[in-house]
Amino acid sequence: MANKAQLILEGKTYEFPITEGTEGEKGIEIGDLLEKTGAVTLDFGYKNTGATKSAITFLDGDKGILRYRGYSIEELAAKSTFLEVAYLLIFGELPMKDHLQKFSDDIRQHTMVHEDIKKILDGFPSTSHPMGVLASLFCAQTAFYPEAMDPNRSAEGVYLSIVRALAKMPTFAAWAYKNAMGHPVNYPDNKLDYCSRFLKMLYALPAEDYHVDPVVADALDKLLILHADHEQNCSTSTVRIVGSSKASIYSSISAGINALWGPLHGGANQEVILMLEEIRKDGGDTEKWINKAKDKNSGFRLMGFGHRVYKNFDPRAKIIKKAADDVLKKLGVNDPVLEIASKLEEVALRDSYFIERKLYPNVDFYSGIIYRALGIPVDMFTVMFAMGRLPGWIAQWKEMRENKEPIGRPRQIYVGQKLRSYVPIEKR
Ligand code: SDX
Repeated sequence: MANKAQLILEGKTYEFPITEGTEGEKGIEIGDLLEKTGAVTLDFGYKNTGATKSAITFLDGDKGILRYRGYSIEELAAKSTFLEVAYLLIFGELPMKDHLQKFSDDIRQHTMVHEDIKKILDGFPSTSHPMGVLASLFCAQTAFYPEAMDPNRSAEGVYLSIVRALAKMPTFAAWAYKNAMGHPVNYPDNKLDYCSRFLKMLYALPAEDYHVDPVVADALDKLLILHADHEQNCSTSTVRIVGSSKASIYSSISAGINALWGPLHGGANQEVILMLEEIRKDGGDTEKWINKAKDKNSGFRLMGFGHRVYKNFDPRAKIIKKAADDVLKKLGVNDPVLEIASKLEEVALRDSYFIERKLYPNVDFYSGIIYRALGIPVDMFTVMFAMGRLPGWIAQWKEMRENKEPIGRPRQIYVGQKLRSYVPIEKR
């Protein structure tokens, strides 16, 4: 019985076809399970459940492999640029020189946002977390581009929505930061490249002749590449399921920004730095904190460690750790928490608790150290993750829409009350 799985339920045998991916992954196709057997599957957190077939990103958690459209993350991080990787993820191939130039020019033409966005921004107190502001401003594009509410509009219309999303995300991100600082916002300087344009909007003060440090811009470009996509993670799955209802690209991605904000997902990079600072202030006793992370009653987790898919090193963590060393040296920054992070990693990786559970540093473990060296404030770390993940969210939304996938609607096993009659309040 080649390529079939058998299920025996209440004495009856059912067969289901097996699908095989490019790299040999196997999936049991159970699209008619309920109809055939009357039963559904139950898989909290979808740990064993494939939601789709995708040609965008391949992960091998055991071997620590990450590829975007077949290209290794190591090669892309070393040789490509963020906009080239964005083009690759969204359109499927590395661009020819003139195509990349047009893509970059089209994005440059749309970096400005409607002045009325400032009225929305002004409604947020300076105490607002930049992720909440970012999600709101990003979704507000539906107000200014109502034509984008139709995800099935023309290919040219979808391209324009994609270009606007990539062009305005850095502007929204920088404005969210300026709002938190109580500073006036900066407008995008279209003479600069993608990362330099963002950094100038983020850091320039009124009437200042601000010059972007190329070391900082290059480091940011590499970080955005490393965060650009990661197959069906929590926030990408959110973008897909919201998009499956035919919501617009802007509302789908705004939902993804909110999902990324959680401390177990993209919010971990902010939590890692707060954790490392707490350990430093506590005297830097890494053994003590490793023991706390192993104690279920402590409520403490080693943030930046562990991953749903990687049961080996997260390849991005290796690249970011090396980049952190390089950037701190180039900038002449000596960050004491880098040493604490390295010590934590060393102690954890020889501890049976972490070895048995295959808990390794993930992408968030070292990224905060670089962001801090680049002068990016902690509250903005997850905003940087969102900026990097944007092309992945776009690519996944586009693939789901082009494949005409059905609306996402999981089932459940009901464990509540059986039928009962209403009791008037005076008789309860
Ligand atoms: C990202 O999915 C993606 O691809 C995400 C991401 C992307 O690019 O989109 O890679 C980005 O989100 C990276 C992960 C960032 N989060 C953190 O660093 C937070 C700390 N890590 C975790 O909380 C945890 O490891 C998760 C959320 C990442 C994964 O959780 P799982 O797969 O649901 O695993 P689990 O929580 O069931 O843990 C399994 C065991 C448990 O112990 P036991 O019950 O078996 O005894 O491992 C333990 C957990 O207690 N464990 C940890 C731990 N992570 C898991 N113990 C201590 N410290 C940790 N960090």
